[in-house]
Amino acid sequence: MKNKKITRKISQGMYVLTTNGGGCVVDAVSQISSGEAPLISVAVMNQNYTNELLKSHDKFALSVLGMDVDPEIIKTFGLQSMRDVNKFENMKVLEIEGIPVIENSLGYMVLEKVDSIMNDTHTLFIGKLVEADVFTDGEAMTYGYYQDHKEELLKIKTENGKTAWVCTICGYVYYGEELPEDFVCPICGVSRELFKKRL
Ligand SMILES: Cc1cc2nc3c(=O)[nH]c(=O)nc-3n(C[C@H](O)[C@H](O)[C@H](O)COP(=O)(O)O)c2cc1C
Repeated sequence: MKNKKITRKISQGMYVLTTNGGGCVVDAVSQISSGEAPLISVAVMNQNYTNELLKSHDKFALSVLGMDVDPEIIKTFGLQSMRDVNKFENMKVLEIEGIPVIENSLGYMVLEKVDSIMNDTHTLFIGKLVEADVFTDGEAMTYGYYQDHKEELLKIKTENGKTAWVCTICGYVYYGEELPEDFVCPICGVSRELFKKRL
């Protein structure tokens, strides 16, 4: 393969996927049918706690993040695991159809799980739209915009005097002179080639 980075040009949005007991930031969302109750798919990493939850829950929601999103939402849901922190502790959520949705978002879709397909890294969960609303008509943040601006958005700071490796996908920071040969990001699962060195 000559350069897999071209796949990062696939245009995606930014969402918080929530279900009972957890959730995470996702960009791998697609509408795969139309009509009154369209089908929407979302690819969730097998290692994520959210994936475990989705196996046993029938409903989930996608909150659409706008350009004015509070970066704390991305940090809380995208850079931490519910295995370690309670992501809902300081988060304003509304309960819709029994599922928490993010108040500080452009709106939400509530989906009923109809199918799932697992591959070696992700599970594609397919849901049928059962409820949806628009909170505000702002511009949605794209994954490309997030990638280009995440340093300012998340204000990723590294400790002075230490060699740091920053994940260009999620902002995770690893300290050490070299990244281990078989290193993969513990947050988003990408390989070491996608880390940038910062001195
Ligand atoms: C911008 C961004 C996009 C992400 N996209 C996805 C995605 O599409 N699918 C996924 O499973 N994880 C994605 N993640 C990673 C999860 O949000 C992250 O691993 C989270 O900490 C998992 O939390 P959990 O263990 O509580 O489920 C993304 C993270 C960020 C910051």
